Amino acid sequence: MHKGDWIKSVVIAFGGSLLNFDREYFEKFRKFIIKLSRECKIYLVVGGGKTARNYIKFGREMGVSEEKLDRIGIDATRLNARLISCILDANNIIPESVEDAVDTHSPVVVMGGTLPGHSTDAVAAELAYKSGADILVIATDVKGIYDKDPKKHSDAVLYNELYVEDLIDRYGTEWRKAGENVVIDGPALDIIRKATYRVVVVDGRDIENMEMAIRGKDFVGTKIKRRGA
Ligand code: UTP
Repeated sequence: MHKGDWIKSVVIAFGGSLLNFDREYFEKFRKFIIKLSRECKIYLVVGGGKTARNYIKFGREMGVSEEKLDRIGIDATRLNARLISCILDANNIIPESVEDAVDTHSPVVVMGGTLPGHSTDAVAAELAYKSGADILVIATDVKGIYDKDPKKHSDAVLYNELYVEDLIDRYGTEWRKAGENVVIDGPALDIIRKATYRVVVVDGRDIENMEMAIRGKDFVGTKIKRRGA
């Protein structure tokens, strides 16, 4: 595969749950990103993970407003983005908006959240739209989207493909509340519905599989489709 042959750019929503401080994983991840960045532009939008959730939980207990809790979450995502950007020797300035990310001219651009009222999934979905990306990869710590929470139910069934409209029927497009863990948040679903890029949900811990998904090959995970597309 050569630059420009098939994909121009990839946006990876890198779930905060993947920030596991596992050196072996991040060595492998770094190699993968560097290799891929020779072929296409890569945007990584990093989630807040445990840091965000712990801070938000305690802030909420102390009566902090929802908007301020979102801002605490955003700071956590930016701290995580800073770490990953340093590991990848990517951008020194962490963009605070999708527009600034699009204007950042390094092969790999890492960012976190932007504004209250959505999660980094929505940031990634918007970034994919505004940067003209070919694919949005939602990388999380389970294999994809299941019929029920696979961490709680051992008989949960993985969907190989799903229509975004069905997810919207089930979860809506509204933002719920800071730190709430949903597969893809409502505002992100709304953007995905209107966009045309490919969308996949994969387990980010399986780098080979993530690469297969990006390269359009068979992979384990959930393909998000659009009705009428
Ligand atoms: P995350 O994107 O990490 O949310 O942002 P999440 O759903 O917990 O995702 P994972 O599991 O890490 O992938 C953490 C919190 O930061 C705020 C929200 O409150 C969100 O729940 N946030 C994040 C925003 O308000 N705006 C943003 O652009 C990003």
